[in-house]
Amino acid sequence: MKHLLSAGDLSRDEAVRILDTAEELLGVAQRPIKKLPTLRGRTVVNLFFEDSTRTRISFEAAAKRLSADVINFSAKGSSASKGEGLKDTALTLQAMGADAVVVRHGASGAPHRLAHEAWTKGAVVNAGDGTHEHPTQALLDAFTMRRHLVGGGAGARAADGAGADTGADLAGKRITIVGDVLHSRVARSNALLLHTLGAHVTLVAPPTLLPVGVHTWPVSTSYDLDATLEGTDALMMLRVQGERMNAAYFPSAREYSRRYGLDRARMNRLPDHAVVMHPGPMNRGMEISADVADSDRSVIVEQVTNGVAVRMAVLYLLLGGAPADGSNEGTA
Ligand code: NCD
Repeated sequence: MKHLLSAGDLSRDEAVRILDTAEELLGVAQRPIKKLPTLRGRTVVNLFFEDSTRTRISFEAAAKRLSADVINFSAKGSSASKGEGLKDTALTLQAMGADAVVVRHGASGAPHRLAHEAWTKGAVVNAGDGTHEHPTQALLDAFTMRRHLVGGGAGARAADGAGADTGADLAGKRITIVGDVLHSRVARSNALLLHTLGAHVTLVAPPTLLPVGVHTWPVSTSYDLDATLEGTDALMMLRVQGERMNAAYFPSAREYSRRYGLDRARMNRLPDHAVVMHPGPMNRGMEISADVADSDRSVIVEQVTNGVAVRMAVLYLLLGGAPADGSNEGTA
């Protein structure tokens, strides 16, 4: 693994290795001193052409906890706002010696160009490209599911996500992803990764918010949220992405919430062990009600915490760290 561009590029074993490494690194975040010397002297550049709160801060925290030098670039306030493109920005960063470039860009495929045209010699990590993919989000989601649904006791939902069986995947788990799939890079990356990990994915959305070609994805689809609740182990609500909508995809916000929003009545129909997820940022009252978001079924805040450990694992493995088990086979 030289880059992380698509969740679909990961084999089952590579994905499980990232999750297992993250499981070990999660302990670091619980120490008083949250730092390991692993990437001392390496430079990680965060290249953000599109707005972000969680993902940018998460990558920054991950790189710093591994002692890397971190350069943060955001398009606002940089020469990008003077029209400098991805290529020239990347060449500038390359001249500064980036070992890894974490890139978020509004254009689907931008990280692939960065990697394949060799505008940087560093490892490229896709932190969200247009409506295409967001592989580290899928990894942190899978990590969170594994902690709650696999091992850590009798297979029941652990109160605090009590850890998971290492080496385990998500075989047979039923994951339902609901909402604006059309504009969601999170949904595509999750569908690919969860399939690789053996889970069954159902996408639930109004027909207008399912992408053309969804029949080629390794998932089932449904227009009926109520019909899927009882057979769900993890329910992931997606943000309605108003900023990417240039047409009316549903009659009204109220109509959308009524059919596809998660409120307490719907949540109560999930199996007892099931968890509720959302990648953030949430539209409270739209795809998820405030009381559900804040309920004890919700693992939304934990997803953010887990994101740092998962991104530490990705940077560590890409930048040539030894595998978590201490052997020397080299995955990077
Ligand atoms: C997502 C994104 O940016 O793709 N958010 C995130 O990374 N946590 C989802 C979204 O914007 O709705």
